[in-house]
Amino acid sequence: MTRVFSGIQPSGVPTLGNYLGAIRNWVPLQDQAEAIYCVVDLHAITVWQDPAELTRQTREMAAALIACGLDPQRCILFVQSHVRAHAELAWIFNCVARLGWLNRMTQFKDKAGKNQEASSAGLYVYPNLMAADILTYHATKVPVGDDQKQHLELANDIAQKFNHDYGVDFFPTIEPLIQGVAARVMSLRDGTKKMSKSDPSDQSRINLTDDADTIALKIRRAKTDAEPLPDHMAGLENRPEARNLVGILAGITNTLPENVLREHGGQGFGAFKGTLADALVAHLGPIAAEMKRLLDDPAALDAALHVGAERARAIAEPICARAREIVGFLPAK
Ligand code: AMP
Ligand code: TRP
Repeated sequence: MTRVFSGIQPSGVPTLGNYLGAIRNWVPLQDQAEAIYCVVDLHAITVWQDPAELTRQTREMAAALIACGLDPQRCILFVQSHVRAHAELAWIFNCVARLGWLNRMTQFKDKAGKNQEASSAGLYVYPNLMAADILTYHATKVPVGDDQKQHLELANDIAQKFNHDYGVDFFPTIEPLIQGVAARVMSLRDGTKKMSKSDPSDQSRINLTDDADTIALKIRRAKTDAEPLPDHMAGLENRPEARNLVGILAGITNTLPENVLREHGGQGFGAFKGTLADALVAHLGPIAAEMKRLLDDPAALDAALHVGAERARAIAEPICARAREIVGFLPAK
């Protein structure tokens, strides 16, 4: 049976970008494969996280995933730091990956900005940990937003080099699953920047916890241009904000941007934004309510995550142990 793995950082409130670009695509995979989903707290601390906030956000992210349709009975849902194999295999991969490969990672350059010297070493080797996340389960399909493609290519380079250097056929090839019309949701303030939970401006994103009024206000204030909507796709060229809002409505109503334009072409943004806000509120309202219900009982949520970690360990530990053996570490007791 195909094994699917994906992860999401508890570094803020999950956004509409996380939902349309990632989480929503994870839900149907639960019934098509053995699906393993992970809240990646080890990745989160590659940039500073206040400890109490990290704990809170880890629960909040787990609640969001369940509220969006991940069912801890039908998938393995857990927190990364609960399964030690991730960090252990990541160390081995730190010694397999080449500096030259890491130097090409555009996400590091984006996140470190001008201040590379002051970035954590963890941020630099982040993709090696990501490779370990996936490969310690021998997972082969990885649903992600399209910004993660380069990291998956690196994971394949690591797997291949490991297999080659040690003369084994141990780690499989990973295939990205990049789906959805809104594979890349952009900021509401700047259509050329990705919507991100770490953007300093809360107006730039829709959070899964936003209430109806907040959603409506953010959409009303979203940056647009002065032209009405075109009635065909070519008319969206060089109009990143318009393209983004059309993509969001298409994503949330499960249709293609072409169909959105067929229906709304010629409309001004005033009317279109009303439709978009209503669709978002209808779709996200029940998710926010379910999140709140789950967070009201943190003990039950933690218990579900502990069961998930146990099931994850049962798969990850033997694979990590075999990697240790291949490398030649003296067997531990
Ligand atoms: P992150 O927020 O970086 O932990 O990302 C978690 C998942 O959401 C990854 O699969 C990302 O590719 C996806 N993702 C994050 N932001 C966006 C966005 N603005 N549009 C589409 N997918 C996104
Ligand atoms: N790096 C991913 C992101 O920021 C999150 C992640 C960590 C992940 N480990 C993973 C995604 C393994 C897929 C598979 O979006």
